[in-house]
Amino acid sequence: MGTPIHVVILGVSGSGKTTIAGILQDRWGWEFAEADEFHPQANIVKMQSGTPLTDADRWPWLELIRQWMTEQEKQGKSTIITCSALKRSYRDLLRKGAAGVVFMHLDGDRMLLANRLAARTNHFMPTSLLESQYATLEPLQEDEIGTVIDIAGTPAQIATQIENKLVQLVEAAKIVQTRTTLSSVPETSPDQTSAVQTTSAQVGLYGLGVMGTALSRNLARHGLRTAVMNLDYAQTEQFIAVHGTEGEFIPAANIADFVASLERPRKILVMVTAGAPVDSVLSQLTEHLESGDLIVDMGNSHFLDTRRREVDLRQKGIYFIGCGTSGGESGALNGPALMLGGAPEAFQLIASIFTAIAARTEIGETCANYVGADGAGHLTKTLHNGIEYADMEVIAEIYQILRSANGMANSQISQVFKQWNRGKLNSYLLEISAKILQYSTDGEDFIEKISDIAAHKGTGAWSSVIGIELGVDLTMLSASLSARFSSAAQLRKQWKELLQDEALTENGVYFTDGSACNLASDGLGCNPDDLREALLLAKLVAYTQGLSVIAAASNKYGWGIDLAQVCRGWRAGCIIRGEMLDEFANILAADADPNALILRNYQLVQQLLPALRKVVGAANLAQIPVPALSAALIYLDTLNARRLPTALIQAQRDYFGAHGFARIDREGTGFHGPWHTGV
Ligand code: 6PG
Repeated sequence: MGTPIHVVILGVSGSGKTTIAGILQDRWGWEFAEADEFHPQANIVKMQSGTPLTDADRWPWLELIRQWMTEQEKQGKSTIITCSALKRSYRDLLRKGAAGVVFMHLDGDRMLLANRLAARTNHFMPTSLLESQYATLEPLQEDEIGTVIDIAGTPAQIATQIENKLVQLVEAAKIVQTRTTLSSVPETSPDQTSAVQTTSAQVGLYGLGVMGTALSRNLARHGLRTAVMNLDYAQTEQFIAVHGTEGEFIPAANIADFVASLERPRKILVMVTAGAPVDSVLSQLTEHLESGDLIVDMGNSHFLDTRRREVDLRQKGIYFIGCGTSGGESGALNGPALMLGGAPEAFQLIASIFTAIAARTEIGETCANYVGADGAGHLTKTLHNGIEYADMEVIAEIYQILRSANGMANSQISQVFKQWNRGKLNSYLLEISAKILQYSTDGEDFIEKISDIAAHKGTGAWSSVIGIELGVDLTMLSASLSARFSSAAQLRKQWKELLQDEALTENGVYFTDGSACNLASDGLGCNPDDLREALLLAKLVAYTQGLSVIAAASNKYGWGIDLAQVCRGWRAGCIIRGEMLDEFANILAADADPNALILRNYQLVQQLLPALRKVVGAANLAQIPVPALSAALIYLDTLNARRLPTALIQAQRDYFGAHGFARIDREGTGFHGPWHTGV
């Protein structure tokens, strides 16, 4: 056995280093690691928060890489390591004590790199970040063993270039016995390289439904060799037929082949319907997995199921992560927001993969967000959906006021939403609402053809149940859920039959005395500025309520969820992404208590409250149900109330059940009233 060699492949994002390293690993059988996988947890947290790492942060990271190299060397193993940017002093640290460290710097036309990156990440990586990576990556110097490798050509051709250069470099550097070590590097010629076959997948994806298909494509587009499997193999074949050329896929017909096709430790993403299907897939997978392997449930699972599964798998030595995935099909393909819960070392195993495929904010921060242990990721996703319901409902309520009370056409409302979307209210949901209202077909606005019975798949209901069980006031979220229930209620259908001709007209309303009025011309409409302000305030309440549930759950389960980081992780890729999240993140970074969203906005709340009141009042008069806006108003009126009628409730409880109460004129609790001694 010769002196082990460590080939460090350097290159900015988009240079293809992971793919090329994968090819070399397959050809040589050397150990392979991505430098990013060695970051200590503190660095990961810092990077996720968008804070650049300092030299002091990087030393322990480099030290861990070096330790790993030394360990491999002790076992006589050579290694391949990929890293985006290593300046000279960092390279020196890696070389310390190791004889054969060779640097291969993948470089080439910057336009080519920028374009590759744009194609791969759907333009999420700004060129400025590329420039900063270039700035960090100081050129190789003469006293280092290494060279620049041109990135023009196929990955296999580039790998061959590296092989040829490596032989020359180690000979020139006279690394002892290198010939023996390199004898495991087969002689290859450029024309042989197209026949290169990869043998193991870096990641596996089980479940090729809409979301699983999009996620697999996303993984492969990021240069990850992806094993794919579906319960029904015909669907896997169909997937390969349609998307097989988009990247390196390894299709599997059964679980044994699927698991066998993965490199160790195996990393398997499961994207199947929440509930029993997840348990079924997990039990089949675990039969074939080994200690140290990792399964990630990417679906909308209930966090208590995730907690149970995590314990169960941990006992079998298998890591388990519950990952909330937001952004729908397009997010899954182009960059979802990921809310991850599990053991930190499990996250470490897959951090680089998630960081690659997740959405990025405009300034390049990743939305792959590790939020805490076991069920923390799925709990966060569930409340994301609870907030999503409220966000959607308030937009819909404002739409209904503009349409029925203000008598505006859909196209006009679309314009109003577009205008609002340029300011503080900017959000994905407002943006798509504006777009939806522009569609027409057969001379009619498309929205008018859609049934008003709203569906739901369960996460909104979980949000409410969780919040109620934790004793958190989340009336806006539950009102938004109930709005969907009432749209579908049987009573509504039955009532409509009684209404018959008295049913509401398009822009008018019948009062109980039988008189009709036109809302728009009779002045029952709302000032659009009031509506905008009401929407702003209602959103503030919805987020406060939703985040309060996350905070309460985090306390109960000891997760230590950082709410500022949660808000940062929602700034791109997810359904509730929007401008206000930046401000929420800043407030919560200064004060972790979710109440701070309301408290630190005291002036704004009091300033916008009259608009919300006017809007809810006008909607009431116009007989337009606005449950979510009303809930927001009630929430704030409750805060402003000097005294609530709940004193009477306490008295009633004590009257019939001797439950006791506190008094405002005395210290202590457990007082009773004079109820049974006569008035
Ligand atoms: C997301 C969505 C996604 C899905 C909801 C829909 O973040 O991408 O929340 O998870 O759209 O599950 O939920 P309903 O069918 O309950 O509206």
